[in-house]
Amino acid sequence: METDALEALNSLWFEHKGIYFDASITSPEMIDSVKHMEIRDSDVFLVTYPKSGTIWTQQILSLIFNEGHRNGTESIDNWTRMPWIEANVRNVDFKTHPSPRTLTTHLPYYLMPRELRIRMGKIIYVCRNPKDVMVSYYHFYKMNPKLKYEINWETFINLFISGRVFIGSWFDHVRGWYTHKEDFNILFLTYEEMKKDLRSAVLKICKFVDINLDEKAIDTVVQRSTFKNMKDDPLSNYSFVPKDLLDQSKGNFLRKGIVGDWKNIMTVAQSEMFDKVFKEKMGDLPTTFLWDLD
Ligand code: A3P
Repeated sequence: METDALEALNSLWFEHKGIYFDASITSPEMIDSVKHMEIRDSDVFLVTYPKSGTIWTQQILSLIFNEGHRNGTESIDNWTRMPWIEANVRNVDFKTHPSPRTLTTHLPYYLMPRELRIRMGKIIYVCRNPKDVMVSYYHFYKMNPKLKYEINWETFINLFISGRVFIGSWFDHVRGWYTHKEDFNILFLTYEEMKKDLRSAVLKICKFVDINLDEKAIDTVVQRSTFKNMKDDPLSNYSFVPKDLLDQSKGNFLRKGIVGDWKNIMTVAQSEMFDKVFKEKMGDLPTTFLWDLD
């Protein structure tokens, strides 16, 4: 079954510098061009492994930078407000893009623009309990219209753990970014802390990007970034993604938006196996940064 899944996936992705990328949205040339992108001090990059809270943080940042969408640009969707650098589907000209540029990426640290490593620009890295990432990703694969093979959960766990998924290994992504954090001007956030106290997370982001909003504007950011409000907001719920990229009759980007959904699908044996792998691969990183996997 794993062989069938891989055969189906092999026709959809290409491997480049250790990572699997979705061939329908990017190319090796596009990825390599990112390295040479000129960085401005005002740039803010949102970096995530997929399914870790990307579009949620895009919404928060878009609202912060546009003061709650009260500046006459209310009809712009978040994909346009925060374009992907390695999957430039809408052909944004990053050179002429007005400052401050707010950009999004799933790239590992070593494929990022070089100038970021002299601590120019700012990076917000959001990560999430990998068990929930894995569940969310499993459901996300079902929406891929080009994937003609239904991968079962057991197989998906194996693919995820071995990094044979789009954007590669979660473990390598998080470890890479975390262990190279001194090279970048970076703020780490977790999905779980955003869930626990969204307002504090918004304030933390405002402080990091040096934007002072009054209480009312902060309230607006928080209120418009809740799961329910985003789900109903066509500019932030990604219902605008073309059907040939995402079949949203099979699910939604905003699926459940909870912490601990893995408990509803992982068996005790699967969870224990995952804990073991997690300990082997991440056990040496500081516990303050990692999750209580239970
Ligand atoms: P679930 O599939 O567990 O529901 P990404 O944007 O990185 O692809 O991550 C998608 C995950 O973030 C989905 O998780 C989605 O529901 C969740 N999400 C998006 N917006 C959210 C919000 N406002 N609050 C909580 N979770 C949100």
